[in-house]
Amino acid sequence: MKHDDDFHMSPDEFRRAGHTLVDWIADYRERVATLPVQSQVEPGALRAALPASPPEHGDEGFDAWLRDVDELVLPGITHWQAPAFFAYFPANTSGPSILGELLSAGLGVQGMLWATSPACTELETHMLDWLVDLMALPEKFRSRGAGGGVLQDSASSAVLCALLAARERATRFESNTHGGRGGLVAYGSTQTHSSLDKGIAVAGIGRANLRKISVDERFAMDPQALAAAIAADRAAGRKPFFVCATVGTTSTLAADPLRAIGEICAREGLWLHVDAAMAGSAAVCPEHRVLFDGLELADSYCFNPHKWLFTNFDCSAFFVADRKALTDALSITPEYLRNAASESGGIIDYRDWQIPLGRRFRALKLWFVIRHYGAAGLRHHLRRHIALAAELGARIAADPHLELAVPVSLNLVCFRHRRGDEASRALLARLNAGGRMYLSHTVVEERHTLRLCIGQTHVAAGHVETAWQEIAAAAAALNQGVSP
Ligand SMILES: Cc1ncc(COP(=O)(O)O)c(C=O)c1O
Repeated sequence: MKHDDDFHMSPDEFRRAGHTLVDWIADYRERVATLPVQSQVEPGALRAALPASPPEHGDEGFDAWLRDVDELVLPGITHWQAPAFFAYFPANTSGPSILGELLSAGLGVQGMLWATSPACTELETHMLDWLVDLMALPEKFRSRGAGGGVLQDSASSAVLCALLAARERATRFESNTHGGRGGLVAYGSTQTHSSLDKGIAVAGIGRANLRKISVDERFAMDPQALAAAIAADRAAGRKPFFVCATVGTTSTLAADPLRAIGEICAREGLWLHVDAAMAGSAAVCPEHRVLFDGLELADSYCFNPHKWLFTNFDCSAFFVADRKALTDALSITPEYLRNAASESGGIIDYRDWQIPLGRRFRALKLWFVIRHYGAAGLRHHLRRHIALAAELGARIAADPHLELAVPVSLNLVCFRHRRGDEASRALLARLNAGGRMYLSHTVVEERHTLRLCIGQTHVAAGHVETAWQEIAAAAAALNQGVSP
């Protein structure tokens, strides 16, 4: 690339490279279904191919960078956007989302304060209110009342913020001022995501003070066991302060009974946080809102549009019923951040709703996604994913060599080989090694279990059918001890 003496990329160079890159992304999205889904490179492969030190002078330019992306980077990519990516959870991006992300980078906005870009804050507030409408969330999460929503980078950050607000409420801000004095106790279930354990550690509560409440036969938290644990902690002089309930656990997509848990929290004065990282998107479909019954009893709620709502990472929607509880816990105002708008009290400064000061313009991509698909489009695709999972579940249940580990929940199918853990492990290894699909695993009732999650943007019946043919053939071959 030719540089004049200011070294910058000129607008014309940027325009040309940008068009090339958009073409590259569009081509990638068209051909991603033909690439091996899981990267098969050895550790260190990319680093060995890169120059050991940075260049003193800028090199030949964008076409060369893109060539290196094709030759060096792509082999090390696991293709989360492949329609046969069924592992973990989806990270289903889409055209409008990518455009929103590009625009966010182009504007280069730092939205820490309303005053540092009013549109960044206001579009975000508006999108969070739109999500309340789209998903029929409790009115208390709408920004015109005492509550409101914010976009975080992750569900992990959301639960940490909820923990900090709850900790301060429970200790009358003593912990922020003097440090923790101990005694606080929090509750999740044996199935709650590990981000709660991490948040508990980071918030200084101490992981020994996190109780993992037992679950019922459907892996949902047992409210009676929760009430008993709270009573035992009170009797021992400890201070219960926080419960994390989940709609859609990571292992099996189980839903905790929010209403029963919420009533206990209300009675006991505990902060209830609800984590619906992936399953939360299902609330666009009225027929699945029963899973969220009792959500109005929660103090905070989080779900990730960056999992199952066609919006690329990072985009985690976090709602609180009482925004003052959150901002009182997280707000610190040095002189250099003071400004008239903040002092007026009439605007939102989202820096007070999160851990970092700086923040990206994430709302653009969500705005583009919702405008592109509309509520009808989002419902259509989620229903399609859920129907495909149900069909696949029925075929697995009818197969002589396979069995469902739990009934299919929304878009997640958990299954195993009837011959036991060794056969299940071998089945997963064979399927993933083939490169035509990618599944992950969990352990259910101490048995090795395959997880197949259907949520990719362009997954169609044919992709699930092809995966099923391969799964069934491999399972049958394993049953006979013959390689498929
Ligand atoms: C139920 C649940 N909660 C939280 C998380 C963490 O999400 P994030 O990566 O946004 O922190 C996950 C991710 O798998 C999850 O399944």
